[in-house]
Amino acid sequence: MLNMDRRTFLAMSAALCASPAWSAQSGGDGLRVRAARNHRLYGTSVDSRNLKADPRFAQAVAAEAGILVAESETKRKAMEPAKGQYYFGGTDAILNFAHSNTQLMRGHTMVWHEANPAWLEAELPVSKDERLLTDYIAKVGTRYKGQFQSWDVVNEAIEPKDGHPLGLRTNSIWYEAFGESYIETAFHAAREADPKTPLFYNETNLEGDDAWFEPRRTATLKLIERLLARNVPLQGFGLQSHLKAFRSKYSEAVISKFLDEVAAFGLPILITEFDVADIRGPSDPAQRDTAVADLTRMFLDVAFSKKAVLGCITWGLTDKYSWLSVTPAYKWSDGQLSRGLPLDGDFNRKPMWTAMASCFDKSQA
Ligand code: XIL
Repeated sequence: MLNMDRRTFLAMSAALCASPAWSAQSGGDGLRVRAARNHRLYGTSVDSRNLKADPRFAQAVAAEAGILVAESETKRKAMEPAKGQYYFGGTDAILNFAHSNTQLMRGHTMVWHEANPAWLEAELPVSKDERLLTDYIAKVGTRYKGQFQSWDVVNEAIEPKDGHPLGLRTNSIWYEAFGESYIETAFHAAREADPKTPLFYNETNLEGDDAWFEPRRTATLKLIERLLARNVPLQGFGLQSHLKAFRSKYSEAVISKFLDEVAAFGLPILITEFDVADIRGPSDPAQRDTAVADLTRMFLDVAFSKKAVLGCITWGLTDKYSWLSVTPAYKWSDGQLSRGLPLDGDFNRKPMWTAMASCFDKSQA
């Protein structure tokens, strides 16, 4: 799968998991259609409760997205709330929605330092039992075998601030129990459970041009290099892309170089969690919308100039349900919604949507 060209990878990964109804396109002029025309994916994270309770949301997701991912419901806290007791209802509901709307779905995420159930956080540091890692991966990997377009096997293993010489996140139940080897153990277990689904490593805060981003990029590239050198079945890279329009600096050159460096390993790249925080921006929403759209255009133009970039998934579709509006670091204290997603709180297309549509339209690399 390494060094496969984008069209072949997308066709293969879709064919592997597609329900009979699947098609890259749909009617209408949504982002999924714009993306598919140039052999890219557009999609969004969703929560099954919102799909169920809010018909306008469900309709917008069906019209705009070609691929879905659960915002929380495929995390361990949701899927194994008590030891050995699994709950697949949320993930299954999204998968069913995806099949009804000729969409793909991806899995996020098997292993993370966050969103773990309390029982695991209590037990793992004491027992250091590897089965607490591998049994879970076997369970969910088998349950969804062949159903996802790709799986995030490990999420956010890098944190240079933790002081590890390789920039690994040490403040993690996984690192504390097993050291770096948990990463390759996880990938091998995922491969065994689900032999064909492309397995991704997903990472955050790599896109910016402030000094603190650089060690994160370096450590991430080194990690990829070590994993591939050890024949770990890593088959794709997820670039989260939670951008911050008024808090971080960005430059085309930095983004371009990093994408080239990842692609040089032969890995396809997916933008997995794109949004643009507008906190600390001007009070006039129109001005913020312009800045968010401008940054979106710059970022996606660079990304889509790379053959290896499979497409872009936004972390939510509408501001109505954006995690940015409820997360302390990003939310407005006066209660207004963050405006970091393509549709506003009333499902209107914002300048960010227009920027994305035009980036997909001209993205022929
Ligand atoms: C976030 C969800 O959006 C929130 O609803 C939840 O409370 C915390 O997790 N990086 C990731 C995502 O990989 O899983 C996170 O999702 C956002 C940051």
